[in-house]
Amino acid sequence: PQNVGILAMEIYFPPTCIQQDILENFDGVSKGKYTIGLGQDCMAFCSEVEDVISMGCVYECLHQVQVLLCHNSPPLMHKGLTAVTSLLEKYEIDPKQIGRMEVGSETVIDKSKSIKTFLMKIFEDCGNTDIEGVDSTNACYGGTAALFNCVNWVESSSWDGRYGLVVSTDSAVYAEGPARPTGGAGAVAMLIGPDAPIAFESKFRASHMSHAYDFYKPDLASEYPVVDGKLSQTCYLMALDSCYTGYCRKYEKLQGKQFSMADADYFVFHSPYNKLVQKSFARLVFDDVARNASSVDESAKEKLGQFTSLQGDESYQSRDLEKTSQQVAKPDYDKKVQPGTLIPKQLGNMYTASLYAAFASLLHNKTSSLDGKRVMMFSYGSGLSATMFSLHLTEGKSPFSLSNIAKVMNIEHKLKARTELAPEKFVELMHVMEQRYGGKDYVTSKDTSHLAPGTYYLTHVDPKYRRYYAKK
Ligand code: ACO
Repeated sequence: PQNVGILAMEIYFPPTCIQQDILENFDGVSKGKYTIGLGQDCMAFCSEVEDVISMGCVYECLHQVQVLLCHNSPPLMHKGLTAVTSLLEKYEIDPKQIGRMEVGSETVIDKSKSIKTFLMKIFEDCGNTDIEGVDSTNACYGGTAALFNCVNWVESSSWDGRYGLVVSTDSAVYAEGPARPTGGAGAVAMLIGPDAPIAFESKFRASHMSHAYDFYKPDLASEYPVVDGKLSQTCYLMALDSCYTGYCRKYEKLQGKQFSMADADYFVFHSPYNKLVQKSFARLVFDDVARNASSVDESAKEKLGQFTSLQGDESYQSRDLEKTSQQVAKPDYDKKVQPGTLIPKQLGNMYTASLYAAFASLLHNKTSSLDGKRVMMFSYGSGLSATMFSLHLTEGKSPFSLSNIAKVMNIEHKLKARTELAPEKFVELMHVMEQRYGGKDYVTSKDTSHLAPGTYYLTHVDPKYRRYYAKK
C-alpha cells in the first residue's frame, strides 16, 4: 500500500471549561501568569457525568465514529448532530471495515481491562469482533504509539485490507498548585489506511527514549501525577534536540542533501501549555544555527552564534539564549507554528490527544492551502519517550480530503458551544472526582444540561466496579 496515513479525523472535547484569566484571579497569582506566562486561554475539563477518567470523551468520540460507520443507526435521528450527520454522509464505511483499533491513553480505568475493550461494544453491535489492538500507555506518548501501530500494520504483511482506527483520549487533572492550570481534556479519533491525504513519511522518523522521573503516576489511589515541572521542561527540550538531530541525520542519509527547518511548512508540537511550544520552536531555530544549516540567515547567525559554545545543561538553563532565540524565531513561529495552536490554547493539555488536537487546529486554520505541504510533528511523553516524524499533505478526494476533514470536525462550532463554569464550581468538581476516583457503588448526578444531544455520559458504577453509560 502507498501513502499510508490518516484518512479521516474527529475530535471531541467536554463542553465545560474555565477561562484562564478568571482562574488567575481566583488562584491569587499575578495577572498574566497563566495567559501570558503559560500562554493559555482556556481549560476544558470533564464534569462529573463525563466520567472521572474520561470515558465520556471516549464514548462520545467513538459514538461519532460509530455514527460515521453504522449508517442507519438511530442516533442520526437526533437533532443537533449536524457535524455527525455531515460526517456520516461523507464517509461511507461499514463497521466491519475496521480491522485494528488502538487506544492511546494515560488515564487508568482498570489495571487489566483495556479501554479498547470498552469501545468494542460499538463494533460488536455491528457484528464485528475481529479487530486487533489494545491500549498503549506512556504519559502523553500513547497516542503516537497507537498511531504507529496502525500505520505499521497497514504497511505490513499481516494487513488484511481493512482500516485501522486510533483513539487518543485523556483527562488531564493536577493537584492544586502551579501545575493545575496546565490541565485539559479531549479525545481524537483517526481512521488509518492507504492513499491518505495525510501521509506518513515513515522513513524519516526519529525517537529519543530514556529513563527520567519528570512526570509519573506512582500513586494508584490518585488520578494526579507527581510532577517535577522544571525537570519536565528540560527533558522535553532535550528530547526535542535529540529527535531533531536524528531526523536530520536520517533525512540526509536517504535524500543525499541537508535538512533544515526551511524544508518544512508547519511544525506541530505536543502542547502541555503554549509557552513550551514557543520555546520548542525557538530551540529548533537555535539547533539549525548550531548545525550550521545553509538556510540560516546572517542575522540569525549573528544573534545566536555566541550561544553555540554553551555545553549540555548550560544551554537549557540560559535565559539569554531562550529570549534571543524566541525573538529570532518569532516571524516563522507566526507562519509555521501558530496555526496549530488554537485547540491546545483553548482546551489545555489533552495528554495523548494534545499533539493530534494541535494538528486538527492546523487543518482547521489552513484547510485550503495545505496541498503539497510537509508538517513536522513532535510527540513527547514523560518518563520518557519522544518521536519526531513528518507528514505529507495532499488535498485528496472526498470523503477523505483535507477540506472534508476540516468540515466534519467543525471546530469553530464546538468551541463556541461550550459553557464556562465558575472557578468555585471547577474546584468543587475536582473534589468530587478525587473522592470517586477508583471507587465503586455510586450514582452520578445524571445532569446532562451542558452536553450536546447524542453525548454518552456515566450514570453509575455498580458494587463490582462495572461502569454504565447512557446517551443523552
Ligand atoms: N505575567 C507574565 N508571565 C508570567 C507572570 C505574569 N504575571 N508570572 C509568571 N510568568 C511566567 C514566568 O516568567 C514563566 O515564564 P518562562 O517559562 O518564560 O520563564 C512562566 O510564567 C511560568 O511561571 P513559573 O513560575 O516559571 O512556573 P510555575 O511554577 O508556575 O510552573 C509549570 C509552571 C512548571 C509549567 C507547571 O505548570 C507544571 O509543572 N506543569 C505540568 C508539567 C508540564 O506540563 N510539563 C511539560 C512537559 S511534560 C507534560 O506534557 C505533562
